[in-house]
Amino acid sequence: MMVHIPDVLTKEQVARCRNVMLKAAWVDGRVTAGHQSMQVKNNLQLPENSNEARELGDMVLQALSRNNLFFSAVLPQQIFPPLFNRYDAGMVFGAHVDNAIREFNGIRVRTDVSSTLFLSEPEDYDGGELIVEDTYGSHSVKLPAGDMIVYPGTSLHNVTPITRGSRIASFFWIQSMIRDESKRSLLFDLDMSIIKLNTDHPGHESIVQLTSIYHNLLRQWAEV
Ligand code: NI
Repeated sequence: MMVHIPDVLTKEQVARCRNVMLKAAWVDGRVTAGHQSMQVKNNLQLPENSNEARELGDMVLQALSRNNLFFSAVLPQQIFPPLFNRYDAGMVFGAHVDNAIREFNGIRVRTDVSSTLFLSEPEDYDGGELIVEDTYGSHSVKLPAGDMIVYPGTSLHNVTPITRGSRIASFFWIQSMIRDESKRSLLFDLDMSIIKLNTDHPGHESIVQLTSIYHNLLRQWAEV
């Protein structure tokens, strides 16, 4: 399940990210890559513990804490602090699967969900599509600045070569309360259906029952 979450950041927040990132010192993106992905990764990153990454990362986390669609799609248990990357012309990230476990400050995060928050407008660069493979085929993603895509951490994915301009983004992982992707997906569909029913037929008598089913499934499946 891939979910597009629009307007995670406002245009002002995106501009703030770009300003901070313009002045920042970048390092080779291979510092956070695993053994396999190191061989196909060619980009730049803000150092994980830099003041810039912390300031912008906190801004992203705060924005996500108010985002209902993100909560419903991901059911977050633990969020890895957001990282920031940049691809200039000629840079690329070949096919890989993200490391299963990430660690920060002694806390382990199982990477159930991978996410990319776009910070460059699509017209500012060519190439740089995020390609995610799943059982239904291959999906190409290039979103407006401030929008985010979440997809299963189990997916093979890559970023196509940048041929013009620069692509900046934030990327990070989330451990979900619901480890199993198919169960997470069912809960998301049920939640969205309840919201739609409530919009189309406010006060419909099935809403209470469906909401009970949602919470009772969550109670059965959640690891907290
Ligand atoms: Ni990746």
